[in-house]
Amino acid sequence: MKVVVIGGGPAGLYFALLMKKANSAHQVTIVERNAADDTFGWGVVFSDQTMENFRQADAETYRAITDHFAHWDDIDVHVKGVTVTSGGHGFSGIARRTLLEILASRATELGVDVRFRTELAPDASLASIGSGDYDLLVAADGVNSGIRKRYAEHFRPEVDLRHAKYIWLGTTRLFDAFTFAFIQNECGVFQAHAYRFDERQSAFIVECDERSWRAAGFDRMTTDESIAACERLFGQWLDGHPLLTNMRHLRGSQWLTFPIVRNASWFYENVVLIGDAAHTAHFSIGSGTKLAMEDAISLVRVLNEPPPPNADPQSALREALQRYQDDRSTEALRLQNAARNSMEWFENVRRYIHLPPEQFAYSLLTRSQRVSHENLRLRDRGYLEGVERWFAARASDGGQKPVPPMFTPYRLRSLTLPNRIVVSPMDVYSATDGVPNDFHLVHLGARALGGAGLVFTEMACVSPEGRITLGCTGMYAPEHIAGWKRIVDFIHERTPAKACLQLGHSGRKGSTKLGLEGTDIPMDEGNWEVLAPSPLAHRPTMQVPRVMSRADMETVRDQFARATTMAIDCGFDMVELHCAHGYLLSSFITPLANQRTDEFGGSLENRLRFPVEVFTAMRAAWPSEKPMSVRISATDWVDGGVTGDDSVQIAQAFMAAGADIIHVSTGQTSPNARPVYGRMWQTPFSDRIRNEARIPTIAVGNVTEADQVNSIIAAGRADLVALARPHLSDPAWTLHAAAELGYTEQWWPQQYRSGKQQLERLVERRKEIKS
Ligand SMILES: Cc1cc2nc3c(=O)[nH]c(=O)nc-3n(C[C@H](O)[C@H](O)[C@H](O)COP(=O)(O)OP(=O)(O)OC[C@H]3O[C@@H](n4cnc5c(N)ncnc54)[C@H](O)[C@@H]3O)c2cc1C
Ligand SMILES: Cc1cc2nc3c(=O)[nH]c(=O)nc-3n(C[C@H](O)[C@H](O)[C@H](O)COP(=O)(O)O)c2cc1C
Repeated sequence: MKVVVIGGGPAGLYFALLMKKANSAHQVTIVERNAADDTFGWGVVFSDQTMENFRQADAETYRAITDHFAHWDDIDVHVKGVTVTSGGHGFSGIARRTLLEILASRATELGVDVRFRTELAPDASLASIGSGDYDLLVAADGVNSGIRKRYAEHFRPEVDLRHAKYIWLGTTRLFDAFTFAFIQNECGVFQAHAYRFDERQSAFIVECDERSWRAAGFDRMTTDESIAACERLFGQWLDGHPLLTNMRHLRGSQWLTFPIVRNASWFYENVVLIGDAAHTAHFSIGSGTKLAMEDAISLVRVLNEPPPPNADPQSALREALQRYQDDRSTEALRLQNAARNSMEWFENVRRYIHLPPEQFAYSLLTRSQRVSHENLRLRDRGYLEGVERWFAARASDGGQKPVPPMFTPYRLRSLTLPNRIVVSPMDVYSATDGVPNDFHLVHLGARALGGAGLVFTEMACVSPEGRITLGCTGMYAPEHIAGWKRIVDFIHERTPAKACLQLGHSGRKGSTKLGLEGTDIPMDEGNWEVLAPSPLAHRPTMQVPRVMSRADMETVRDQFARATTMAIDCGFDMVELHCAHGYLLSSFITPLANQRTDEFGGSLENRLRFPVEVFTAMRAAWPSEKPMSVRISATDWVDGGVTGDDSVQIAQAFMAAGADIIHVSTGQTSPNARPVYGRMWQTPFSDRIRNEARIPTIAVGNVTEADQVNSIIAAGRADLVALARPHLSDPAWTLHAAAELGYTEQWWPQQYRSGKQQLERLVERRKEIKS
């Protein structure tokens, strides 16, 4: 095969040498615009796992790279005068220049034609570099790939240019650990990512958001002035060593903004993208070079697989390139997702800087969601137990033992929850005339016996017309008080769990068949009139609602207040107002349903007016020592709907009216929603509200493992975690989680003691066999 490679970075060089190694008959030419000894960039990092891939691909380059490694295990986080160290991270650094020298010399040794100081001009034909005729063109020309631009209509690239600013510097100060240093001053927050990559130097990347950057005057400084200012900012970690640049070839500012690059297609005819030309992953997870070199391994493999019998060379090449794209795009996407979480954490570091140093560092370490609580324990037990001890001491006035964060108590006004696990509200559509019955008693009772700290009822509706279906429970008739009281009494008498009543009104999503028969399907007969802020049906197949008058609003407000008073008689510990999922109050908040032109429509402040009025009436009816929560849809997942930005304002409005905690759900407000599902998918909205507005939150949504709960709580992404479906498959989710984590102090029903002992023994034995 005759191959031309544009770009002699890690991707191009590694591809070329592996290609030649696979078959010395291949003719491989690389053109690289820079000279062989140009030193742009500083160090790169590889994990132990990545090195294993390199060892298998070419033992010679593996050996040469490892001979030049600087290895470290610890991560140091310096913030607010405190240094938090966590170990077991297992990374190695190497100078980018050394890496490129190793790759170029091995490529030359294997017979690759490496042409430095040769540039393919943007519109020039390959003939201009003496390579007009070739079987394959490999575009390894980096993040600003000219080849990608040339064939943009075929690759369909997407480039998301972020706003945070960074400058890639070096220093002769040798750091023993991977070092993150944070400075907060009157201009904003600035961070350094620093790591040693050889015996003489460390990489030192300074990053900040655009606001801090402008406030510090970096937008008006020359490069030398910027470097001097960074030396002053981070002087305490530089020990008198200078910061250095080797990017003077860049015209203008050396401050950069990170572009996230994606391509719908990675090849077109016989042109293929690899490395940064194909995808980028934010530098804070240090995976760009790894991805680039692993692309090279994959591309070489598919190109050297035997073609299908009788295939013509063009279609065989196309199929090989398709296999390469299929193989690499999933891995690239996985890393890009982790990198996005990490990048967003650093972009929004102002949000987290208020956290105590211990929690700030933990939040940083778990930012990509690839490193979890138990993962940190495996890396460094001492560090993790220190975090658990610290967290437990804060949660329960001075506990000394390390306790998994989910098993620490949590206080809301005079209510103390025994742990952080919440049974999320779940409608079981099993009531008649709104009365909770034996099914509700056994269902909720079993979950309270199952160890959760707080058990929510389903949405109990404040009027018969406020029900979603005829199977929904209510809180509007005397029988309802008796039905709920029986359940609350059982929970209180038999378990340490607390009980929260969720109150709601279905609005335009009401008068439908039981949820068990499908969602949002109007009844076959006997439908009642539904209410909403505007005459807009939730779906074309559903009823057009009656527009609420002021008198209707007052009636509904009073129904909520009456139901709250009834909750006192039942003995509930807490009440939640349901303002999520497109029901009546949610339909006031979202502009997709509320198009009123009076003081209850228009701006977010206006759209919140009625829900806050209802909440205020409930707060006045509810005892001041008892807590209240509000469930919101933090985004509609629809352009033009409620956004994460709005959710902070929504949460603040309810907190100002006396809420104690915000229960952060999303969506279900419009059939046009385009949610992005995944593990813990709604937690970022809780994180944002909690840390931007400093408001206690409950996170919910596809949290299924105790490890995830502990990570969320310890990082301060939420104060409580609600699980819905996991509690349907396992009422004793909390008891099982405690046994798995070896937390033997978890309360179990006395009657189930022998089950506790057996389970703990089994878990212990399983762990012994594993180790
Ligand atoms: C601040 C920062 C820190 C980073 N830290 C790390 C890290 O710690 N670990 C890590 O793994 N990655 C890191 N990266 C990412 C890493 O630098 C890239 O992901 C990696 O270099 C990609 O390799 P590549 O070969 O695809 O592209 P590049 O290394 O960019 O190579 C492309 C080459 O093509 C050449 N070229 C471009 N156009 C032409 C043309 N028309 N003619 C001839 N030659 C051309 C360029 O001169 C260049 O040498 C970091 C990046 C940044 C910005
Ligand atoms: C059967 C079922 C009924 C639900 N009913 C309610 C409800 O009455 N009120 C409410 O706010 N959310 C309700 N939800 C949403 C859950 O409380 C929760 O937010 C959602 O299921 C996501 O959590 P999960 O991924 O742990 O299941 C219901 C969910 C399920 C599965």
